Amino acid sequence: MKLWGGRFAQATHKEVDAFNASLPFDYRLYAVDIEGSLAHSKMLHKQGFFTDEELAAVQKELKELLVRIEAGEIEWQIEYEDIHMQVEALLTEKLGPTAKKIHTARSRNDQVALDFKLYARNQATLTKKALDSLILLLTEVASQHLETILPGFTHLQHAQPITLAHHLMAYVEMFSRDSDRIQSTLDRMNLSPLGAGALATTTLNIDPLYTAKELNFAGVMRNSLDAVSDRDYVLELMSHNALIMMHLSRFSEELIIWNSAEYGYIRFQDAFATGSSMMPQKKNPDLPELIRGKTGRVYGSLVSLLTTMKALPLAYNKDMQEDKEAYFNSSDTALQCLSIFTFLFAEGVIFNEAKMAASAKKGYLNATDLADYLVEKKVPFRDAHHIVGELVALAIQKGVALEALSLLDFQSIHPEIESNVYEFLNLDACVKRRNQPGGPAPNRVLDHINFIKKQY
Ligand code: ARG
Repeated sequence: MKLWGGRFAQATHKEVDAFNASLPFDYRLYAVDIEGSLAHSKMLHKQGFFTDEELAAVQKELKELLVRIEAGEIEWQIEYEDIHMQVEALLTEKLGPTAKKIHTARSRNDQVALDFKLYARNQATLTKKALDSLILLLTEVASQHLETILPGFTHLQHAQPITLAHHLMAYVEMFSRDSDRIQSTLDRMNLSPLGAGALATTTLNIDPLYTAKELNFAGVMRNSLDAVSDRDYVLELMSHNALIMMHLSRFSEELIIWNSAEYGYIRFQDAFATGSSMMPQKKNPDLPELIRGKTGRVYGSLVSLLTTMKALPLAYNKDMQEDKEAYFNSSDTALQCLSIFTFLFAEGVIFNEAKMAASAKKGYLNATDLADYLVEKKVPFRDAHHIVGELVALAIQKGVALEALSLLDFQSIHPEIESNVYEFLNLDACVKRRNQPGGPAPNRVLDHINFIKKQY
C-alpha cells in the first residue's frame, strides 16, 4: 500500500515504480531528510500536534534510524519511490500510529525543497572550503617564486616577462571570485521553504519561523508557490561549479603544456603520472587531462537542469526530480577535481626554474621594455615601437637576443640608445620595473600575497 494510496484501486505497475522512483539516487538526502523531520516534529509538538511522549518517541526513532542507515543496515525499497516516503515508512514500521503524524502540515514538495537546500548548503560549504585551501596553497607557492622569471604569453606566443608568482596569483584571483560567488549564493539561499506545504501552505496553526531557526536559516521564504518551485540556487551553484571547472581546466591545460618536452617548465612526480601500455618511454599527465575532460560533464549538467526548468508552470512538477542527479554530478565532480588538483599541486609538481629562465630569454620578451626606454627619451611611442621592430628584425637576422646586439647595432637604428640599455634589457630588471598595481614586480605581487593571506 502506497502512503498516498487511498484513492487508488490498483497497485502501481512495477515498471511505473521503477521509472518514477528517485530513491536510487536521492537516498543520499537521508541525513538532511531526518534533520528536517527532527525540526518539523519539534515544531509540531510546540504547536500541540504531538504529546511529549510522542515527540520523544519520534525524535529517538529518527536518530536511531540515522545510525542504522549509516551502519548500512537499511535496504532501500524502491516501491517507496523516494527517500522522503522511505524514511516515513521506516519510522512507521517502528512507531506505528505516532509516525503517521509526522507529515502533518507538510508535503513532499516543501520537504524536498528543504532537504535539497540543506544538502546543497553543505556541499557548497565544502566546495568553498576546498577553494580556500587551494587559494592558500597557491599563495604559499607563489611566495617562494616572487623572482622566478617566466615568459608571459598572449596567443601562446612569448609576450612580456612575468614571474611564476604573478602567474599563480592570477589563478588565486579566479578561485577567490569563485569562493565569493558561492558565499553570495549561500547568503541568498538562506530562507527556509518548510511550511509552504504542497504549494499554498496549510490551514493548520504551524510555526515556520521556528523550524527555519532550528535549521539555521535566517528566515522563511516569502511566497509559498516560489518556495516549492525555486531551484535557482541549485542552478547558481551549478554555474559556480562550471566556472570553477573552467578555471581548473585552464590551469590543467597549462600544466599539461608546461610538462611537455618543448616547455619543460615542470615535471610530475612519478606517483602522480601514468604510463603507456605500448610506448615504454611514456609518462602521461592523466590527472590534469581528466580534470580538463570532466569540465564537460559539469557544463552539461548545468545546461541539462536549465533546460528542465525552463517551461515549468508553477508550482511543483515531477520534472524537477531531475534536479538531483544533475546537481550531484556537478557538485561531486567539482569537489573531487578541486581536491585532486590541490593534492597534485601540493605534492606532485616539480618546477624547473632554469628552463623557465632559459625560455624567457627567447622570443624578445623585453622588446616592449626597449620601446619604453625610448619613450623615456621622449621618442613618441609609435616611433619607438617601429624602431624596436627594426631592432628585433636585426636580432632575428643575426640569430641573437636583443641584449646580444652591440651598441653599434643599436645606434645604427637609433643614435640615442646608450650603453645603459643593457641594464634596461635585463629580464629581472624588466620585471622589477613593472611595479604598477597588479603588476609582476616582486613587491607588487608580495602586496597581493599579503592581501590574500589576510582574507583567508
Ligand atoms: N521525489 C520527488 C522529487 O525529488 C519528491 C517530491 C515529490 N512530490 C510530488 N508531489 N510527487 O522531486
